[in-house]
Amino acid sequence: MKHKIAPSLLAADFMHLRQAVEMVNDSDADWLHMDVMDGVFVPNISFGFPVLHAVAPVLKKPMDVHLMIVEPQKFIDRVAESGAYMMTVHYEACTHLHRTVAAIKETGMKAWVTLNPHTPIRLLEDIIQDVDMVLLMSVNPGFGGQRFIEHSVEKTARLKDMITRKGLPTLIEVDGGVNMETGKRLLTAGADILVAGDFIFKSPHPMQTIKELKAL
Ligand code: DX5
Ligand code: ZN
Repeated sequence: MKHKIAPSLLAADFMHLRQAVEMVNDSDADWLHMDVMDGVFVPNISFGFPVLHAVAPVLKKPMDVHLMIVEPQKFIDRVAESGAYMMTVHYEACTHLHRTVAAIKETGMKAWVTLNPHTPIRLLEDIIQDVDMVLLMSVNPGFGGQRFIEHSVEKTARLKDMITRKGLPTLIEVDGGVNMETGKRLLTAGADILVAGDFIFKSPHPMQTIKELKAL
């Protein structure tokens, strides 16, 4: 499978969200990554359901909703109603992850699990067969524009090994500090989807940057 690119709307100019979404529509991007933060699970607040609802009718690509919130299970129906294609919850935020994953799938959305940089891959051993994708954070969640954590490349390779060993179709998405150089190494290590915020939206030519990431 050719790798996918998911621009992160967090890095867009919020005064011109429509233009950002239309740029993504017209580009080679595959999905739009949307970061919801609550100021509790992460030390920042981004945007919530009103923004998901505003973007969904304009967006022509699947909406990839990354919830950086405590108790994400409370909002599964709200995320589904907002038109999300996939919902990802943090391993660290879910006491009953198996139940949460099942409830996400019942809505028809894809269910994904995210790991913080310090959370070991081995903790996925008994849940990975139930999730469609794993999102590896390659920065500490909460902010765009942070420096890539090097260890993420080796972690991606170990996750890929686990998936291959179990013969699963699980996809690997990596989020944080992605650029041409880190992106290339992540793809070599086994990543299937690259999220990029600043590298795309702060670029003078975002569509061209997406094209280049897609061609890696
Ligand atoms: C960070 C978010 C990321 C962020 C990535 O908590 O989950 O999606 O937007 O931004 P960059 O690519 O600038 O590191
Ligand atoms: Zn994200």
